[in-house]
Amino acid sequence: SRPSTNPGAKLLKVATDPTFVPFEIQKADGKLEGFDIDLMNAIAASAGFTVQFEKLPFDGMISTLQAGKVDAAISGITITPERLKTISFSRPYFKAGLAIAVRENNQDIQNLNSLKGRKIAVQIGSTGADFAKTIPNAKISTFNSGPEFFQDLLNGNVDAVIGDAFATLYAINNGQLKGIKVVADLLTEEYYGIATSKSSPHMDAINNAIATVLSNGTYKQIYQKWFKA
Ligand code: ARG
Repeated sequence: SRPSTNPGAKLLKVATDPTFVPFEIQKADGKLEGFDIDLMNAIAASAGFTVQFEKLPFDGMISTLQAGKVDAAISGITITPERLKTISFSRPYFKAGLAIAVRENNQDIQNLNSLKGRKIAVQIGSTGADFAKTIPNAKISTFNSGPEFFQDLLNGNVDAVIGDAFATLYAINNGQLKGIKVVADLLTEEYYGIATSKSSPHMDAINNAIATVLSNGTYKQIYQKWFKA
């Protein structure tokens, strides 16, 4: 989206991987939209930043932040102890978790136990990829983006996908993912945060702005726009 014209506002370069409905999506005309995009714009408006989104593959995001090439990242990024060793996270802004997805006609994968020894597709560098590694004898295929690993599932190359439940369910419920269902309960409880480098001077402003949009109704508006609660 176009940077707002707020003279003197600090330019904040924000990385995002727009392959993750409904959090960050790229429309046919190249424009970005989604829950995270609206939230980041609201945070920027409150904190007095001008946002410039930079599209980046999810897998490279953390190292790009560390290298100081962008100021922040919003991308449905789960706050994990491992990631906290190298980058900083804002306060959580969304409760999430992983789920198993299979082809609609699959009857024999009902739960985590039935994934042992199966072929599983995940997004490179994601919490779903980390989780898949813990399943005994699983054969894991990695992909750069959500649409690719679901295509692999539909093609019959893998038995299941492990990915973020909200994103998967949203795509199924909105007709963007046909022939796929989610089985069993959430595998994990996760929280999304906005990431910056460890030494970022902007984290306090970002956290204050999150508090503001949570208390002034803006967060709720954005939530209802995307999730029609
Ligand atoms: N929540 C997961 C993680 O942090 C996946 C996020 C994927 N986001 C994206 N924009 N592709 O690893």
